[in-house]
Amino acid sequence: MLRENKAVGAPHSRVDGPLKVTGQARYAAEYFDTGLLFGCVVSANIATGKIASIDIDHAACMPGVVKVFTHENRPAVAYRNSKWKDQVALPGHPFRPLENDRILFDGQPVALVVADSYEAARDAASCVRVHYLPNRPQTDLERNLDESYVPPVPRSEQSMPPPPRGDAHAAFAAAPYKISAEYRMDGEHHNPMELFATTVIRNGNGDLTVYDKTQGSQNSHEYICNVFGLASEKLTVKNSFVGGAFGQGLRPKYQLFLAVMASLDLKRSIKVEMSRREMFYLTWRPSSFQQVSLAADGNGNLISVMHHAVHSTSRHEDYQENVANWSGLAYHCENVKITYEIVKLDVSTPGDMRAPGAATGITALEVAIDELAFATGTDPLDFRIRNFAHRDQNQDKEITSKALMACYHEGASRFGWSGRSAEPRSMREGNDLVGWGMATGLWEAKMSPAEAKVRVSSDGKVYVSAAASDIGTGTYTILGQIAADCFDVPIDNVTVQIGDSSLPKTAVEGGSYTAASSGTAVQAASKRVIETLLKHAHVMSGTPLKHAAAKEVEIAEGRLVLKTNHQLGLALSDIMSFVGVSAIEELGVAGPDKKLAKTFAAYTHSAVFAEVKVDADLGVVRVTRVVSAIAAGRILNPKTARSQILGGIVMGIGMALHEKGMIDHRIGRIVNHNLAEYHVPTNADIDGLEVIFVEEDDNKVSPIGAKGLGEIGIIGVAAAVSNAISHATGTRFRDFPITIDKLLMSGTSSDNGPRHHL
Ligand code: MOS
Repeated sequence: MLRENKAVGAPHSRVDGPLKVTGQARYAAEYFDTGLLFGCVVSANIATGKIASIDIDHAACMPGVVKVFTHENRPAVAYRNSKWKDQVALPGHPFRPLENDRILFDGQPVALVVADSYEAARDAASCVRVHYLPNRPQTDLERNLDESYVPPVPRSEQSMPPPPRGDAHAAFAAAPYKISAEYRMDGEHHNPMELFATTVIRNGNGDLTVYDKTQGSQNSHEYICNVFGLASEKLTVKNSFVGGAFGQGLRPKYQLFLAVMASLDLKRSIKVEMSRREMFYLTWRPSSFQQVSLAADGNGNLISVMHHAVHSTSRHEDYQENVANWSGLAYHCENVKITYEIVKLDVSTPGDMRAPGAATGITALEVAIDELAFATGTDPLDFRIRNFAHRDQNQDKEITSKALMACYHEGASRFGWSGRSAEPRSMREGNDLVGWGMATGLWEAKMSPAEAKVRVSSDGKVYVSAAASDIGTGTYTILGQIAADCFDVPIDNVTVQIGDSSLPKTAVEGGSYTAASSGTAVQAASKRVIETLLKHAHVMSGTPLKHAAAKEVEIAEGRLVLKTNHQLGLALSDIMSFVGVSAIEELGVAGPDKKLAKTFAAYTHSAVFAEVKVDADLGVVRVTRVVSAIAAGRILNPKTARSQILGGIVMGIGMALHEKGMIDHRIGRIVNHNLAEYHVPTNADIDGLEVIFVEEDDNKVSPIGAKGLGEIGIIGVAAAVSNAISHATGTRFRDFPITIDKLLMSGTSSDNGPRHHL
């Protein structure tokens, strides 16, 4: 269908760009209604314990205040646990806002103050008096490693380690080259520009239109219907525009529940938006502790991989991600042992954050691989090429496509890797120690269930609709490009409507699934439109298409024609007027190919090269260049694709150097819940990013040949930066983020500092 490749493959600017830069694109908190109420959350200031008493009398009497909701007056809602499970809920008990007097995590909402202005709500919220009976919190992962356990209910098949193969211990013991080390990561917090927000507009008949910041309008819709016992048609959830979401928008957040609860109770429209501080209370990648042991034989072949990963979760849910399994398939190795455990702490449930699991586990693996390459005296790129894996050994499956070798070669060439001097601390520029490091990245390329409707009208206009989300990724644009090519029209002729729970069913936008899944659904719907047109054409008198089969026709210049002879065909407008309709619409369905998945595994791959400069006196690290070479199948739009990877690299630099959630473990409270003290990379930190997409033909991974790009950009970046710092300084850094104190403490910045700790 995408035979001409006119729109698809072209670097179209995002179609929603003008709306966004002119402020016309409205986000969840930007909808208004006459008499709109505002909710402000009162957050707990202990991490675990009980509410002894809560005094709302003063707050409730303040000007403009309509009502104060607490656990003592919360309206009745669903009781059964199953009703609270959203589409991507975890094993355990989903958090229920204002359920009772128990406090499970720092910042848990204990009251919602509703007033006729935001200022009045916030003012009154500061006057709610809560007396707590705190318990002693446990929030330090490392101090609680003794409590780690294997999750009894797996979140998914992928979150469980593969069975061990060979004898990793024996191979390790006998090997001439080996390394064994521990890797630590502090929790990271999601900081999209748009805060979690919900505006509930109550219509005249009592129906609700809910504008929610989410990665899945239908997930929010189903959750609200279940929790409040609402009929599906009483409610529409919209997320037309999403101001960045990196996984935490996959599950409904408490402001959605609170806003709908208040709206139903007060029979009013209302908005509840989190503060940046509240975002820190419940949006985070878990802290982690990993042990990796690797061994190589005398020829530099990897002969043993052992990876043990542990991360934190909450008391009430078993959050799980695939941290360590990558170590069993990234490189060829016959002896592998992977173990994975979690630890309950007095924290909110962690969540998926861009490349959940892989960003953590591959960072440890790729630093460890660098350490082993150094131990064997091999160039880190050569070592990886020598140990290239052609199969997925974890699952014993073929791989649909793996142009990683091209990533290595093209990335290295662009970066100038052959000019690297192997000896640590051997590259200098004035007072700067220069280091070059690299790493491999991989992520699953999968499809999720997705539907889409496509309508083509007699004037050549095409309409695409689906409940899919565009979380800043470019979904609007690529779906438009695909439809444009299916009907041979310019992209300006295509209107894409997404982000609405009443539109065709689509899974949450996550896992880098959307482009392949919704893109395929659009193609499938377009094919069905063409089939319908052909069915009508078959019965038209004098039709040149009388005996044509669906696979023999296509649309060109507004006509349904034979592929082999464009002269033979009928105008779409003639076919439609023959049937007496002005448009034809069909539904397309896409989803994972279960039969294919029995023999094939599919991944995106990357090779990341980084240059750092470390001030020899002060230990200041600057990432001066990153080249990321990506193999992700067919690139639907090189411009939006590049943006995905650039964003991933920036977050990877944040993971390497800046992002660190700090908890005062004595009180279990987050202490840097703002963008002044929680550092993310800014423009001044970013320079010299280059993205390369290598050729990769894959006719198996998805019917449109595309793999996803949302996650792969971040994976491997932190390892490449760490490896570069080690090359620059001669000291190995295994704890993330690698902040200046760690460099100074290690003494590496001094010329007399340790040299061969690598
Ligand atoms: Mo992604 S972490 O599945 O939004």
